[in-house]
Amino acid sequence: MHIDVISTSSYAHGHPWEQYAWLRANAPVFWHEEPEGPGFWVISKYDDIKMISRQPRLFSSAAKGVMMPETDEAGLAAQRLMMLNMDPPQHDRFKLLVSRGFTPRNAQLLGDRIATLSAEIIDDIIERGECDFVHDIAGRLPSALIAELMGIPRADGERLYELTELMHTTDDSVASPEQRGMAVVEMLTYAQQVAVDKRAHPGDDIASSLIQASVDGDALTDSEFQWFFLLLVNAGGDTTRNLLAAGLQALFDHPDERARLIADLDSLLPTAVEEMLRYTTPVINFRRTAMADTVIRGTAIAAGDKLMVFYGSANRDEDVFVDPDRFDVGRNPNPHMAFGGGGPHLCLGMHVARLEIKAMFRELLTRLTGLGSGGPPQPFASNFIAGVNSMPIVFTPAKPLAQV
Ligand code: HEM
Repeated sequence: MHIDVISTSSYAHGHPWEQYAWLRANAPVFWHEEPEGPGFWVISKYDDIKMISRQPRLFSSAAKGVMMPETDEAGLAAQRLMMLNMDPPQHDRFKLLVSRGFTPRNAQLLGDRIATLSAEIIDDIIERGECDFVHDIAGRLPSALIAELMGIPRADGERLYELTELMHTTDDSVASPEQRGMAVVEMLTYAQQVAVDKRAHPGDDIASSLIQASVDGDALTDSEFQWFFLLLVNAGGDTTRNLLAAGLQALFDHPDERARLIADLDSLLPTAVEEMLRYTTPVINFRRTAMADTVIRGTAIAAGDKLMVFYGSANRDEDVFVDPDRFDVGRNPNPHMAFGGGGPHLCLGMHVARLEIKAMFRELLTRLTGLGSGGPPQPFASNFIAGVNSMPIVFTPAKPLAQV
C-alpha cells in the first residue's frame, strides 16, 4: 500500500482509514519520508500512543513543538509559551495555575449556560428551514462559549473565532502569511486588554480566575495569560465545530443508529457523544521528539527522531475496540483517544467540549424535525484537523422557543 499521511489529498475524504489499517497490521512503527522535513515515525497503534503520551520526558512536546511542519527556533520559542508545547516541569507549573478553571465541577456550572447558548443558536435559524450547519450552528457555539468563559461580549467572541479561522487556513488565497501573523497580533492584543479589564473589574469568569490565580505566590504573567488565551480560543474552536459536523454526518450515514438514539435520547446521548468522538476524531495527529535512544515494538528510535501519533488510527485499533469501523451509539466501554493519549497534555477542555456536544445534539435531535442533508458537505483537506468547511442541512421550519 502506498503510504502518504502528509499530502492533503490523502485527507480529501476525511482520515485515510485504509492507510491506518495497513500500518497497524503491517508496520505499526513506520518510517515516513518528508519532502520538507527530516522524516518521521508514524505511530498507529493505541498502546504505543498511550505509552508515548505518558512519558513526556522521553517524548518531548517542547523540543520541536507538536505540529507536523518544521518550525525555526524563533517560531519554537513563541510556541513554547503555550502549554501544549511545554514539557515538565514548566508544564506542571502551568497546569497547576490554569486547571482550577477547568474542573468537571466548573464545567457542570457552565452546563446551563451552554444549554441556553445552544437553544439560542437554534432559535436563530429554526424559522428558515435550511442553513449551513458549519457556519450557522457548529461554528457559533464555540465562539459563544469562549465569550462566556472569558466574560467578554458575544460579538468579540465571534471576531476571535474569525481570527482563528485566519490563523488555521493553509490556503494563501484566503489569508496571506502576513494576514495570518496580523491575526495572531490582534488576538494577543485583545487578550492583553482582557487582562487589564479583569484585573480592574474581576467577574465570575475563567479569565478573572486565571488572572488572579496564584499557587504559593506564583501567578501567570501577562504574556503567559495572552498565549494561554490564544491557545484556548484555538484549541476549543475548530475541534468542537468539526466534531459537531462530523457527528451529525455520522448520524445521517447511519439512520438505524440515529433512530436508536432518538428513541432513547436520555440514556444513549452520553455514549453517542463518546462514539462520535472516537469515530470522527477531530484532531488527526500531534508530534513528539525522542529525547534519548529507545525501542518501540522492536524498532530502534534514535535520540532526536520525530514521531507523529495518529489518534484516528488508535481509535480504530482492533486490539482495543470490537468491530472498530462500526458506528455504535451505545458503545461501552469506549476508551477513545480523541482528547489525546493520556498523560499531562490530555485535553484540558474535554469536560466543556462534552457539555457543548451534548447540549447541541439535544437541540438538534429534539427541535429540528425533518432534519436531513441539504447537499454534499465540503471537506477541508488538512493533515491536522479533520473537518468540513460547509454542510447544508434542511428541516421543517418552526417557531423559536420565545414564540412557542
Ligand atoms: C471536540 C473537541 C476537542 C477535541 C477533539 C480536543 C482534542 C485535544 C487533543 C487531542 C489535545 C492534545 C492532547 C495530548 O497531547 O495528549 C488537546 C489539548 C488541549 N485542549 Fe482540547 N480538544 C477539544 C476541545 C477543547 C476545548 C473546548 C478547549 C477549551 C475550552 C480545549 C483546550 C485544550 C487545551 C488548553 C489543550 C492543551 C493541554 C495541555 O497541553 O496540557 N480543547 N485537545
